[in-house]
Amino acid sequence: MHQVYFDNAATTQIRDEVITSIVEVMQNNYGNASSSHSIGRSAKVLIEKSRKAVASYLNVSAAEIIFTSGGTEADNLILQSAVRDLKVKHIITSKIEHHAVLHTIDQLVKDYKIAVSYVDLKPNGNIDYLHLSTLLKSETKTLVSLMHINNEIGNVLNIKKVSELCKANDALFHTDAVQSVGHYKLDLQDVKVDFLAASAHKFHGPKGVGFAFVRKNSALKPLIFGGEQERGLRAGTESVHNIVGMERALKSAYNNLEKETQYILSLKQYFIESITAKIQNVSFNGKSGDMEKSTYTLVNVCLPIPPKKAAMLLFQLDLKGIACSKGSACQSGSNQNSHVLNEILCEEDLQKPSIRFSFSIYNTKEEIDYVIDVLKEFIE
Ligand SMILES: Cc1ncc(COP(=O)(O)O)c(C=O)c1O
Repeated sequence: MHQVYFDNAATTQIRDEVITSIVEVMQNNYGNASSSHSIGRSAKVLIEKSRKAVASYLNVSAAEIIFTSGGTEADNLILQSAVRDLKVKHIITSKIEHHAVLHTIDQLVKDYKIAVSYVDLKPNGNIDYLHLSTLLKSETKTLVSLMHINNEIGNVLNIKKVSELCKANDALFHTDAVQSVGHYKLDLQDVKVDFLAASAHKFHGPKGVGFAFVRKNSALKPLIFGGEQERGLRAGTESVHNIVGMERALKSAYNNLEKETQYILSLKQYFIESITAKIQNVSFNGKSGDMEKSTYTLVNVCLPIPPKKAAMLLFQLDLKGIACSKGSACQSGSNQNSHVLNEILCEEDLQKPSIRFSFSIYNTKEEIDYVIDVLKEFIE
């Protein structure tokens, strides 16, 4: 059976050239980058070359990139150290952030008794910038943590505007850019975020590696203690092959960005047109149905299926070889509604199944035809 993978916001297929680069490093550069002999030094060279290249894609300096085990660790490093070391006493965030941010903040509230404010959301899931401005008037040291692209509903935050609001109010700004790095060109000289989190497996790179961007002189301290790796900011022997693979994935992403964006955008457009034409009364959650104001990589569809039948939907799709999800992959196994949709949908729509379909360069229009036919069959 042909598998249709429409869950690219959960993770992506690794590009061939990335696999080749990873295997090459595993075969030829097994050294520990902290060793002083030549085998160790050559591993170190690979890491530093990768750091320089990753930094160049974001227009920042190599010293501002800290390699981590992924997006969750980068979010944790930034948020935890901001409170513990930078003495942040107030965090402004939203209720539709990823759990890597929300649960970290919950823990910081318990451990440090910091204050948290949740910025108001519009019914379409966009943040209320006016409310954010009001919240930023607080007297205490504040950090804003808002994601660039929402992983469930695809809403895009105007990070330049938020960074300017933060600067004007002397607040720090962290953005979880896990769904945007590798999918959007980011120039961090223009967009003055203080901190950013990214993850390789969301842009056709390996799992278990990502990075934190930490703007120069921001005085963050490590989350993980041990050796002096990552300039003392992240202890632990570096995963050289993963770091090189991440850089290779980012290189391919940015070299082909224009062409690939257009291709994926055309898939999303086709999906929206086809599903609207073939299935009555579908609606799109958040901004995800808006071709201009949401990310081109995903759509979140609310389907007109009665709750009893809906319970079996993902399972039935899986039986037909279709991989998609209810929301973030971390929640897929749970029966609970998505915390994101809970914030923005009315009771009636929450009773219906909502499915996120997320696309990549490896998908085709024929796959969309197949998926929509299966959905139609299920509904009828
Ligand atoms: C927006 C967002 N932030 C953070 C993460 C966590 O990243 P990682 O899987 O690399 O820990 C994800 C992954 O699902 C995500 O979509």
